Amino acid sequence: MPKDFSTLEDSNRSSNPSIHEVSDPARRTLLLGGAGAAMTALLAPLGGCASPTGDAPLLGFKSVATTTADTITVPEGYVAQVIAPWGEPVGLAGLSPAFRFDASNSAAEQELQMGMHHDGMHYYAKDGNQGGLLAINHEYSDDGLLHTDGLASWSAEKVRKSQAAHGVSVIEVRQGEGGAWQVVRPSPYARRITAYTPVELRGPAAGHPLLRTAADPLGRRVLGILNQCASGITPWGTYLTSEENFIYYFKGPDEPDAHQRRWGLRKGSGGHYRWHEHDERFDASRHPNEHNRFGWVVEIDPHDPTMTPIKRTAMGRAAREGATVAVTKDGRAVVYSGEDARFEYIYKFVSRDAIRPGGFKANAELLDHGTLYVARFDADGRGRWLPLTHGQGPLTVANGFADPGEVLVKARQASDALGATKMDRPEWVTIDRERWVYCSLTNNSARGTPGQPGVDAANPRANNSMGHIIRWREDGDHDGLAFAWNHFVLAGDPANERAEAKGNIQGDSFGCPDGLWVDARGVLWIQTDMSTTAMGKGEMQRLGNNMMLAADPKSGEIRRFLVGPPGCEITGATGTPDGRTMFINIQHPGETPSERSDPANPQRYSSWPDHRPDGRPRSATVVIRRRDGGVVGT
Ligand code: FEO
Ligand code: CA
Ligand code: CA
Ligand code: CA
Repeated sequence: MPKDFSTLEDSNRSSNPSIHEVSDPARRTLLLGGAGAAMTALLAPLGGCASPTGDAPLLGFKSVATTTADTITVPEGYVAQVIAPWGEPVGLAGLSPAFRFDASNSAAEQELQMGMHHDGMHYYAKDGNQGGLLAINHEYSDDGLLHTDGLASWSAEKVRKSQAAHGVSVIEVRQGEGGAWQVVRPSPYARRITAYTPVELRGPAAGHPLLRTAADPLGRRVLGILNQCASGITPWGTYLTSEENFIYYFKGPDEPDAHQRRWGLRKGSGGHYRWHEHDERFDASRHPNEHNRFGWVVEIDPHDPTMTPIKRTAMGRAAREGATVAVTKDGRAVVYSGEDARFEYIYKFVSRDAIRPGGFKANAELLDHGTLYVARFDADGRGRWLPLTHGQGPLTVANGFADPGEVLVKARQASDALGATKMDRPEWVTIDRERWVYCSLTNNSARGTPGQPGVDAANPRANNSMGHIIRWREDGDHDGLAFAWNHFVLAGDPANERAEAKGNIQGDSFGCPDGLWVDARGVLWIQTDMSTTAMGKGEMQRLGNNMMLAADPKSGEIRRFLVGPPGCEITGATGTPDGRTMFINIQHPGETPSERSDPANPQRYSSWPDHRPDGRPRSATVVIRRRDGGVVGT
């Protein structure tokens, strides 16, 4: 399908508040402060917010070249500063064990330090543009780096440390003299949530027989969150973090049933992390329902370190990438997300009730009631949202769905039955100022191979090694049941001689889009997760290290802004409300082709960010500013 930007100019302009507007400090006070705050202020037509750059072009920086350098490369006039790498203390009062470069910190110490593999992230302005909280996902662990001798003498202590390196960190950050940022230690907000933190299950599937286990016969309390990938924020000030590839933590049973097989459990499968050897709940032959308790959107209030995180079952279960919130004109929350697995689906949830003023307390059940839909992209550029409503269409008792809870736990099977479109690995979702909703489809080398789905209009390339970005706009409001869609870009160089890798990029080349973020000015930031596995060695050599690019949603121009160190992916963009500070995450610098580092040679591919002979590569947050203090990207 050709690129089509003409529809941007039609009259169907949004009067919805964007998440930037509802999350800026002034409005956040309104939402979190509660007393007397009128939702009408939140929901009033905004008529387009003022751009800090007036009529200047959206992209004002000079593009950077591809590179394989072991550093962060940013445009002329910009500075990149590393903060909060893996292992640094998060800042709990009196509990700040220093990182040991030989990875000899204990599990108990890791629980007080930044986890591994930073991913989705959000800046909550506490003191405006100069200080706030960062909520940061830690997707997974590389046990070759995490322990001094890697997986040798595998033990319960090593499993515990691996689990402690997962989850979420909440840290307080502040800008100091000269513009540099620091982690505030101690901070009353500092928090670690791990793969064993107690978490509540809420919503229609909470307590369901499929969620009950020997340790939790009520099916309402889970230990931990797993594989936190992309993130989202709510207008009431909370953080949404999604559980992505949770199935790889479970060792498959000898005789998996059809449900377990649909979610990837096979005889001898999984167990990559070897947790089941010392924590039996990760052995599916002994605890067949434990895996059902993962794959949910998790809600966390970063402003309240005593809050028990909540898995929101109403949004359905998936190997989910993120959770991006829009608000309808009448104040209901709409949550978009994709399931990053080959041939899985794109979802949206529409809340039953409108958001109320008063912060999290007033909206503590908002994400427990509503309707979940899955997307079908039709060949004519139109699409439909198909409801996962029990008793409707094929989602009946006769077809094996006993009740609404079972539909949510088995969202994949329900989407199969509804005939939803099988996508090329949906990753992040973001929404621009013209109400276009973008989703990166990172790659899918299995598309069109024997026994697998062939190409379709929405996923038009067989052996899709480069990925693409699809976008849609709802008919009417964000709760619309139908939409128009097109491709924002097919990644890959238009001059590429390999047909399946030939893209239609206007501007700088890239592959495998993953992170997406529309900033307050309307720039679409694109972060890549290219790998030799997805693209082949030749393409990786051509494009160098992973990168972040800025796109103009109107013109379609894409310009390379940043390149990371070797082996990393770039993820997790956020920033201060004034746009003068941007935060991103560098995940798995120096990653090896096997995705597990050699403890005898941990710096084989990268020594970023410490570059010391006894060090090891560390995922980290990076602060990006203009040297002159201007708005990033202008
Ligand atoms: Fe965790 Fe789909 O990236
Ligand atoms: Ca991702
Ligand atoms: Ca990756
Ligand atoms: Ca990815």
